[in-house]
Amino acid sequence: MTTQPFKVSIALFGATGDLSRRKLLPSIFHLFQEGSLKDDFALIAVGRRDITDDDFREVARKAISENDKLETLEGLELFLEHVHYVKLSITESDTYSSLKDKFEDIEGTLDTGGNRLFYLAMPPQYFTDITDNLRISGITETEGSKKLIIEKPFGKDYDSAYKLNEEISKSFKEHEIYRIDHYLGKEMVQNIEVIRFSNSLFEPLWNNHYVSNVQITSSESLGVLDRAEYYERSGAVRDMFQNHMLQVVSLLGMEPPVSLNSNDIREEKIKVLKSLRKVEEQDIRKYFVRGQYDEGVADGEYVRSYREEENVSENSNTPTFIAARLFIDNFRWAGVPFYVRTGKRMKNKETKIVVEFREVPMNLYYQNESDDLLAKNLLVIRIQPNESITLHLNVKDYAGEQDTKEIKMSYSVDPTDLSRTVDAYENLIYDCLSGDATNFTHYEELMNAWSFVDPVNAVWESELASFPNYRSGSNGPVKSSLLLSKDGFKWWDV
Ligand code: BG6
Repeated sequence: MTTQPFKVSIALFGATGDLSRRKLLPSIFHLFQEGSLKDDFALIAVGRRDITDDDFREVARKAISENDKLETLEGLELFLEHVHYVKLSITESDTYSSLKDKFEDIEGTLDTGGNRLFYLAMPPQYFTDITDNLRISGITETEGSKKLIIEKPFGKDYDSAYKLNEEISKSFKEHEIYRIDHYLGKEMVQNIEVIRFSNSLFEPLWNNHYVSNVQITSSESLGVLDRAEYYERSGAVRDMFQNHMLQVVSLLGMEPPVSLNSNDIREEKIKVLKSLRKVEEQDIRKYFVRGQYDEGVADGEYVRSYREEENVSENSNTPTFIAARLFIDNFRWAGVPFYVRTGKRMKNKETKIVVEFREVPMNLYYQNESDDLLAKNLLVIRIQPNESITLHLNVKDYAGEQDTKEIKMSYSVDPTDLSRTVDAYENLIYDCLSGDATNFTHYEELMNAWSFVDPVNAVWESELASFPNYRSGSNGPVKSSLLLSKDGFKWWDV
């Protein structure tokens, strides 16, 4: 990573929350371990509880020690010396003076250059209170840089996202706002561009002449866990599809950017989002399938249905699954369906992309109707787990009775390489500290994504679905397969 450690004070709002404990604290600690953060760095945990620095350090020590991706805990005690705790009440601007004093104390002793990063790992209803109060209390006035990292969801539709942005913009400019989409921090998601733009092999084929369809699956075996209150309002469309899935679609579909500069990449991604075919209300069924999990067996254990989960309404109309058939209406992709599915309580936890290529113009090998067909050429990019890239090809079948057989050429990421970063969040925090916004969601991307999904939500929220409609531990509703089969395709289980 860096040779020059970053000089910065990071204020972490929501420091005792689940995200901070599982991902953020271990990621920040790992940045410290490998030298990106060093002497002139402080972490200020912000919370409403009346606890001391030492109490919070104990929370951090525990969270970091429990992280199984960290190879060693070397440097932990030194790291904790850079950690402080400040109590304040999010909604009361007067209480922010304690945070202001803390920044000033730190800046009096460490050479942070006055650089301040505010990380909001908080429920969205607090976003504007925090940014307003940071401004009102004068904390955003600093000689160094100021940056805001903000977790999703950013609004619940186009209008609310617009309003939220207006509010936040009173305190931070667009180039200071880093909207997290943690999928963009995943190594294999970042690899999509590298695979496409550093090999002469794929780009000439990456279009409607050679690709028959593209499939993106992000399935989870877990249910809603203890997040029902949030999930009931969000559902699979806002939780996964509007952000993570559409980001992956835009990386797969974009034109080569003129440079790797974040503005150039973003410009191309936005064009993809703009080219997504808008679906009229009466056609929603032809393009989208929704689902909600019933009871079943997931990860070898009996699990209850979504409607029986705690804090879920017994008539809940919230989708825990969405499958979509998308079209990018431009010259490159006209006519090529991009199928996307994501859901909870499915058969397994995996995220993968399958690019299916068209058949050869004429099959020389199997000419009788009863014969097998040539295997389809597939490019499989496995994002998680077991990151890998696999190409499915036909070769001569020396031993068998067939003329050809299918083989798989594969590259798997060495899991020990991944120990470089403990989590996608580490990549993203590093990028933000370096001022690189490429892997964050720009306002325009966000708004295009909302304007695409809003009509779907509007229809689904006004029409009751016959839920539940898929068993826990399955591949989702049967209708999700019909979405492909009517085009002559199937979900690849590879
Ligand atoms: C989050 C969603 O953004 O992504 C969660 O809010 C989901 O509901 C999670 O479980 C999935 O992320 P990952 O990295 O485990 O695929």
